[in-house]
Amino acid sequence: MDRDMDRDMERQRRLRIGVLASGRGSNFQAIIDRVEDGTLPVEIAVLVVNNRDAGAVQRAERHGIPWHFIDHRGRSREEFEREVIAVLDEHRVELVVLAGFMRILTPLFIDHYRHRIINIHPALLPSFPGTHGQRDALEYGVKVSGCTVHFVDTSVDGGPIIIQRCVPVLEDDTEESLARRILEEEHRALPEAIRLYAEGRLRIEGRRVRILDG
Ligand code: GAR
Repeated sequence: MDRDMDRDMERQRRLRIGVLASGRGSNFQAIIDRVEDGTLPVEIAVLVVNNRDAGAVQRAERHGIPWHFIDHRGRSREEFEREVIAVLDEHRVELVVLAGFMRILTPLFIDHYRHRIINIHPALLPSFPGTHGQRDALEYGVKVSGCTVHFVDTSVDGGPIIIQRCVPVLEDDTEESLARRILEEEHRALPEAIRLYAEGRLRIEGRRVRILDG
């Protein structure tokens, strides 16, 4: 009984995250896996998708995580974002995680969660921002690429960088093979950045994010 109460209190203390996704949801799954294996001490309060067919939805269902579909089509960006904010606030979300969320957010949303939104991007920013980070890196001819987790500000993919992980670009790489190699690193980087945030170890100083000792 005491142990149950301890566990309940521990869950109540955990940082509540809300995940926004548009597709397959493998990064969302990486977060779920780290929470379930006990290495990421957060509560996944809610998943929001803007695409009814997003694979992320099945993952949420399988793991008993509340989810909401909010359609962005046929309405203004602000109207869409106001509804997302209402859902996140209703679930008392403290950190918003963009895990393959393919919509640009306006200042309305970003100001509401100032310094409380992080995004995973499949390239080493500030190179190759936008929707085709892996393809753009390959076509440019770089020999190293990777992924970036960063705080979201009103620029596109330009907020302060929390973590980057690199992979080599191989001679026979295609967009798909490079994307696969980068994705493996995304699955490490995103939960790690969330953990650092949850532990209160990230300090934004201008463009730099200082990682404090644990
Ligand atoms: C990931 O590669 C993520 O970095 C990318 O979409 C993919 C989503 O995969 N995000 C962006 O390109 C954002 N600009 P997932 O749905 O399997 O996590």
